Amino acid sequence: MCGIVGYTGPREAGPVLLDGLRRLEYRGYDSAGIALVTQNGDLFVEKRAGKVAVLQDALGNRTPSAGIGLGHTRWATHGRPSDLNAHPHSDCTGRITVVHNGIVENFRELRSELLAGGHVLASETDTEVVAHLVEAAYEGDLADAVRSALRRLEGAYALVVMHRDEPDRLVGARLNAPLIVGLGDDESFLASDAAAIVAYTKRVIFLADGDVADLRPGTATITDRAGAPVDRPVDIIPWSAEAAEKGGYAHFMLKEIHEQPEALTAAMTGRLRHDKICLEELDPIRDRLAGIDRVEMIACGTAYYASLVGAALFQEWLGVPARSTVSSEFRYSPPPIDPHTLVVAVTQSGETADTIAAARLAGDRGALVVAVTNTVGSAITREAHASVFLQAGPEVAVAATKTFVTQVVTLVMLAADVAHQLGRLNAEAELGLVKALRRLPAQASRAIELAASTEEMAERYASANGFMYIGRAFGYPAALEGALKIKEISYLHAEGYAAGELKHGPISLLDADVPLVAVATRSAVYEKLISNLMEGRARDARVIAVATEGDTEIERLATDVCWVPDTLEPLSTILAVIPLQLFAYYVAVKRGRDVDQPRNLAKSVTVE
Ligand code: G6P
Repeated sequence: MCGIVGYTGPREAGPVLLDGLRRLEYRGYDSAGIALVTQNGDLFVEKRAGKVAVLQDALGNRTPSAGIGLGHTRWATHGRPSDLNAHPHSDCTGRITVVHNGIVENFRELRSELLAGGHVLASETDTEVVAHLVEAAYEGDLADAVRSALRRLEGAYALVVMHRDEPDRLVGARLNAPLIVGLGDDESFLASDAAAIVAYTKRVIFLADGDVADLRPGTATITDRAGAPVDRPVDIIPWSAEAAEKGGYAHFMLKEIHEQPEALTAAMTGRLRHDKICLEELDPIRDRLAGIDRVEMIACGTAYYASLVGAALFQEWLGVPARSTVSSEFRYSPPPIDPHTLVVAVTQSGETADTIAAARLAGDRGALVVAVTNTVGSAITREAHASVFLQAGPEVAVAATKTFVTQVVTLVMLAADVAHQLGRLNAEAELGLVKALRRLPAQASRAIELAASTEEMAERYASANGFMYIGRAFGYPAALEGALKIKEISYLHAEGYAAGELKHGPISLLDADVPLVAVATRSAVYEKLISNLMEGRARDARVIAVATEGDTEIERLATDVCWVPDTLEPLSTILAVIPLQLFAYYVAVKRGRDVDQPRNLAKSVTVE
């Protein structure tokens, strides 16, 4: 979704905003713009369709000197990507300017009302109405005018508003879209996420829904929409600016793939105690966990595939019905939910609107909601009774990698912890699991080393017409995720299929130009998987197998083999996906794609 940054303080605002926008570009990159109140008291606005680099070229060296400004990168929802629809948007007087992430759902009605009242609206966006509503309400105090405008808005927003005549003041507001305040020495920031501002300050306030932040250099006053003061703690961002940089890799995606061993270690930190798995975050909800009789998992995209592993384990270890549903479908056919239902919402960003809506519905119906997310302070944590964090560090590439493996490992620990509490996981099984988990980071490093061959393989496969990925049991989510990676970043069609279903239709797609990628790691379903692999070979398809080191049989059967270390079946998804990530990466590179910011996608989608 869109990225927002605002600044007020002694620095040159232009470079601070452009720097922030570049770091936020993964959130959306259809257009970019900035507004500044210049030292002469003028409002300067420049905005362009395209990436931040296009805006920067347009600005050249004519960015005026200013100590305050706001900026935006857009991922289009209302109105196509164009210079006109790019943010910031201004009012009739050209004094008030606004950037917005989210959707004003009643904007058509508001727009008609504003037009009838004599306002002139230039763009097709929902955002522009906000500038005009603030204009209509303005009586010399920007925060008051914003609060008054907010009372008219329905939908979701993170907003930053600036008035030419109050040249050190920024007003921000959030409802169902992320916005944080950054506090420096004599300077203040607003941003969609910490990546935009962590180079300048680590002291942040995570705004809650309904908050309005009134910023001057170095200070922030938070109120609700009625103007009543609210107290919000100042948090310290634990990661450095360098952590959000590429660290020498060609792309963030490649860097993040290589960070997986470290991310897995971080995800397990403090959670493996001798021979036990213990998630302290669950302590406040132990009473309710004791009574659960079914588990529903909700998630989107990559997180959904990770959640399939979680659902399988809850079912196997707890012996209660457990399943996973795509969040956007969950709401339309909700399962029976009562206080004994555990709902696990899995979301990297914690801001995915579909998942938040599904979690809210579940919470409203009395479910016990647990969030599994990478983002402290994100919206999902406010919907949940308990939140378990991935601890994976920032993920910048749009295509998720390290957050997939940390979601899987976190869900394994979550299911094991709950099964332990309910007395359904025996000590021996738990000990075996702990040992396997401890080996996992080193095995992930080994899997990365072994997958070096995917670079050369990609050369031979990059001109394929499409790919068919198959897997069974814990190999199935890996196949789905592998296919998603190819689709997202190389723009090649790829199907992820349950291997047993291959013969029921999709096998007709296979030929010499549509390779079969089979997740064939050691497992109880290995023999059956091999039969499915042979079905592909018989149709002239080249076969890429992901197999366990030491498997001598598979080399005869597959065209190419990607080796991974042996582990317990529930953890095999994590190791099997690594060569598939790297294969997708190299195919995309060979095809000349924009790996970190693939077309049409956004890192976090905060609209339903
Ligand atoms: C977007 C991203 C996907 C991601 C999905 C869910 O569509 O492009 O990579 O898997 O959102 O995101 P979440 O933050 O909820 O895990």
